[in-house]
Parts: sequence; structure tokens; C-alpha cells
Amino acid sequence: MRALAILWVFGFLLSEADSWGFQNGVFHNSIWLEQAAGVYHRESRKGRYQLTYKEAKAVCKFEGGKMATHDQLEAARQIGFHMCSAGWFDNGRVGYPIVKAGANCGFGKIGIVDYGYRINKSERWDVFCFNPDTKQCGGVLTDQQRQIQSPGYPEEYEDEQICYWHIRVRYGQRIRLHFLDFDLEDDTSCLADYLEVYDSYDDVTGFAGRFCGDYLPDDIISSGNVMTLKFLSDASVSAGGFQMQYIAFNT
Ligand SMILES: *[C@@H]1O[C@H](CO)[C@@H](O)[C@H](O)[C@H]1NC(C)=O
Repeated sequence: MRALAILWVFGFLLSEADSWGFQNGVFHNSIWLEQAAGVYHRESRKGRYQLTYKEAKAVCKFEGGKMATHDQLEAARQIGFHMCSAGWFDNGRVGYPIVKAGANCGFGKIGIVDYGYRINKSERWDVFCFNPDTKQCGGVLTDQQRQIQSPGYPEEYEDEQICYWHIRVRYGQRIRLHFLDFDLEDDTSCLADYLEVYDSYDDVTGFAGRFCGDYLPDDIISSGNVMTLKFLSDASVSAGGFQMQYIAFNT
């Protein structure tokens, strides 16, 4: 069920679940390679396949990046970047990178599945961005210590964002999350914009809190060596965003 949830979140197919596995107690599949060689996949807050070419371009640009070129996508694929969701990339092309052949994804082929140059730029797909510096909206973080901030911070974040950060430190370590600045749209049950923290690999188990408004949350300490953060913003009203840091410590 956990594997299914992870795969669903990242738009993979269920059939892939068996082909990736656990290593050193850590679930290894493309989730940990969600960003490779500066390339990453993004979808709209509204869900899969909702971005026109223009919107897709804006998603990458907002985070300081660009749309990935075919070569960048291929370079990422060669180090394991596998994504079973088609996205826009440079020059108005659409496709996705396949590392492991599967009947339900990529027509059993390995490589960049290329739908070619799209004449109709109003078609809606996901997007592949390239940003060698940082991915501001989510990512897989393995450093011992690191700052995390909402996309665009300290500028206001944009509407309709969805970001997942997966923190994974060494086996046997735990994670302390410390909030430095916090300002999300305020509503009583945090249904509009929110940050959720999970003491887990995914956003299904280990719920540790949902936060909005401008009250600075207390530190959160993980029970194991992984943590997941999920940030969602809705279609209206934004705010200053958040900045936090995590530190790994030995137990
Ligand atoms: C272009 O794609 C959009 C979205 O799929 C569709 O609604 C529209 O009819 C298409 N336009 C043309 C000229 O095919």
C-alpha cells in the first residue's frame, strides 16, 4: 500500500511497484531520483496533464530554471531518472524518460519516449524543468543539514503549487525540523494553503502536523531517518511563505 501510494503520488503505474525495492531499509525507486542531473518533473496543482506549453514554461521559470532540453533529459535518464508521465520539454516537444521497460509505460521501450514537436501548444501535459542549482519546489534531500523554503521565497509563493520534499539521512540518524519563518494563507482548518509534515517516506502514514497561518510551528523530530513535507497552495490568496532548516543527528 505504501509503495502504491508513493507511485501514485509521482504518477507511476502500479505495475512498476514490484520492480524497485528496499535497500538498507530505504525504499529505492524513482522517488529518490526525482531530481537527477538538474532535471525534474512537475505537474500542476490541479493534477496530472494540466499545463499548456506557456504555463509549463512559467512553472520552470518561476523556480529559476528552464525547460529541459532533450539532451538534458537523456543525461538524467542515463543516471536513472524514470518518469511515467509525459511532459513538455524544450522547443515544444512532449515526452518522458524510461529507464526500466514496462508493459504499461513506454511501450516496452527504454529511452526518451518522444511524442515529438506539438503543433497545438494548448495541449495539456506535465513539464520537465532543468535547474542545476536547486529545485525550489520539492526534491530529495540527503544532506546532513539544509534549508528548505517555499518556491520563490522570500517573494510570495504562487497559487496552485504542489511540492514534496523527501528528507533521507543516514540509517540510525534522526531529523530535527526547525522553522525559521512561516506565513501561509490563514483559514481555520488549513484547507486552502498548507504545509504537512510526515514522519515517514510518504504522505500516507506518519502524519505529524498540518500548518497554515503565521504562527511559527515548534520543532518536529522524526522517529527514523526519513521525513516527508508536502506543500499545497490553492487557486487564490498567497502569502510570504516559509523557511525552515533540518539537521540530522545521531541517536
Ligand atoms: C488544441 O488542444 C486543446 C486541448 O487539448 C483543444 O481543446 C483544442 O481544440 C486544440 N486545438 C486545435 C486547433 O486542435
